[in-house]
Amino acid sequence: MRVGFLQLRVKFGEVKANVKKAITLLGKVSDATIVLPELFNTGYLFKNQRELNSLAEPLLRGYTVSEMKKVAKKCNLNLIFGMAEKKGRTVYNSAVFVSPKGKVESYQKVHLFDREKLFFTPGKSLKTISTSEAKIGIMVCFDWIMPEVARALALKGAGILAHPSNLVLPWGQQAMKLRCIENRVFGITANRIGMERRGTLNLTFTGCSQIVSPAGEILVSAGDRSESLKVIEIDVTEADDKHVTPANDIFADRFPRVYSQITLKSRKK
Ligand code: ACM
Repeated sequence: MRVGFLQLRVKFGEVKANVKKAITLLGKVSDATIVLPELFNTGYLFKNQRELNSLAEPLLRGYTVSEMKKVAKKCNLNLIFGMAEKKGRTVYNSAVFVSPKGKVESYQKVHLFDREKLFFTPGKSLKTISTSEAKIGIMVCFDWIMPEVARALALKGAGILAHPSNLVLPWGQQAMKLRCIENRVFGITANRIGMERRGTLNLTFTGCSQIVSPAGEILVSAGDRSESLKVIEIDVTEADDKHVTPANDIFADRFPRVYSQITLKSRKK
């Protein structure tokens, strides 16, 4: 199957311009599953709740999803992109999936990073999406910090981790390589580039979007300076084989009772 990422520079608050640019770039490819960055339509550094509420969109019938559905249909693309999802009075930092046939689903980010905790509500469950070609597990940016997320998605049968991101810490890409090795799955991280400055707040996004194989090889990557659209062919059935040696199937070799502590919230000192 053909998979890819679209690494972008985003202008805060300029939803129409950000979406139009992404659609122009996506229009150059067809017949693929493409991952875009977290919050690619709005930008990231919201000053307050009011500002976030004014830029968030409902999952169905909002501008961004409607436009992304059009390009998905026209170019036969499965798209996974980040956006602020409004549901009643609640706003989630979501990854939205749209298919060429108009199917729409969302995963609401569970592990919120830093100031996201001021304005977003964390999601309550993980999500896999089945296309005709693969089962895709969705994670958003800082979800990488919890190895449990990738493991749970792989145990739910995901062969690919789709990872819309606004990575700012230096370890996200390396950690995702490890998540792929630990679970023998493909990983597609789509990151932002550039700096976002909002008053006294500013962040620099680290780029270096990548597609990683179940053996931890970087199959394709981008730099940290320019926008980049990369699409490659993968054999997703490689993720079905969980052996690292003929004697070691990493899923069959687990002893969940030995580490049952990880399902508890408590921590002993
Ligand atoms: C992040 O989760 N956006 C760092």
